[in-house]
Parts: sequence; structure tokens; C-alpha cells
Amino acid sequence: MENKKRIAVLVSGGGTNLQAIIDAEKSGIITSGEVVLVISNNEDAYALERAKNAGIKAMAITKKDGDIESRVIQALHEENIDLVVLAGFLTVLSENFTKEFPKRILNIHPSLIPSFCGKGFYGLKVHEEALKKGVKVTGATVHFVNEIPDGGEIIFQKAVYVEDGDTPEVLQRRVMEQAEWIILPKAIEKVCSEMK
Ligand code: GRF
Repeated sequence: MENKKRIAVLVSGGGTNLQAIIDAEKSGIITSGEVVLVISNNEDAYALERAKNAGIKAMAITKKDGDIESRVIQALHEENIDLVVLAGFLTVLSENFTKEFPKRILNIHPSLIPSFCGKGFYGLKVHEEALKKGVKVTGATVHFVNEIPDGGEIIFQKAVYVEDGDTPEVLQRRVMEQAEWIILPKAIEKVCSEMK
């Protein structure tokens, strides 16, 4: 397809969601956009290796480089990015950033928003709190990003059962496998295909 939307993925860690996006491009789930840039705020993130292995431009922008947000905004503009995907990017973005890309930033959150979300709810903490509460169903949410943490419009959600004996790590893995890696690529395709 011509005129694919240019996607940047922002990461901090292992990058399994990034891998799911790369795989979805290969398998034809994502056809309306292509990942052209991966930015990590952590230079040791394995996600950067995944990007390089897939032939995607990858860069680390860390505190050493000064203000991370303004450097990221600059890199996104330089690459003419249409859509920014936060895939395990462990930094809350300021209004300064979000207003630069209205309805152009997606995030994957590992719970069914509005449960277990907002400030401080990231990584394993989300699953620890879900287990502490004793919920029987959790899941993942893809949403647009605005100035409110986990507060933007919801695009897709998928439910995942909690099982007896789950640890936060086991639940995290199941939520990734059964929800995150499925709905994030689908949401990217939906948003790219509908983008003017
Ligand atoms: C995922 O659980 C995602 O929902 C959360 O951070 C984790 C990232 O994992 N925001 P990975 O780097 O994609 O493997």
C-alpha cells in the first residue's frame, strides 16, 4: 500500500510489544503504517536490539542528552512521524508533549481501564494490585494519550482471566500473550487506516 503512515514506537525495556508490532507488519495485520523509528529512554533496553534486528532506525535519548521530551519531539518531527506508539515507555508525558500530537499517540496499559490505572500504575505494580484486590478478570487497554495519565479515549480492550495461584509475573505474561500483543497491532492498524 502506498502512503503508509510513519510510526514511531517509544520503549524503555524488553520490547515484546514492539516485537508484536514488527511481527504484525510482517504478517499483514498492519498494512496502513510502518514502524520507521524506535526511541528508548534507556540505552540498555533490549527493545533497541529488536529494532536493529528488524532494520528499523533505533536511538536512545536519555537524561544525559538533556530534556528527554523536547529531544524526542525533535526526533519525531525530523522523521515526519504520523503516529507515536508508547509500548512500555515508562515516562509520563507532559501536556507539552501530548498537545504536540493530538489523537496521534497510543498507549498500551496492562489492565481494563478505569481499573488499576493512573499515576504509579505501571509494570508489575498493576498486576500486584489486581491480585491484591482479588479480581477474577483483568486485561489490557489501548487508548489515545492525552495530558491525563491513562485518561485518553479507549480504542480497544481485551479481557483475560485471573487464575488460582497466579503470581504478578505469571499474570503479566498471560495479559501480554492473550491481550496486549493482539490489541496493540489491531489498534495501530485501525488508527492508521482512519487517519486523514
Ligand atoms: C507491558 O506490560 C505494557 O503494557 C506496559 O509495559 C510493559 C512493556 O513490556 N506498559 P514490553 O517492553 O513491551 O515487553
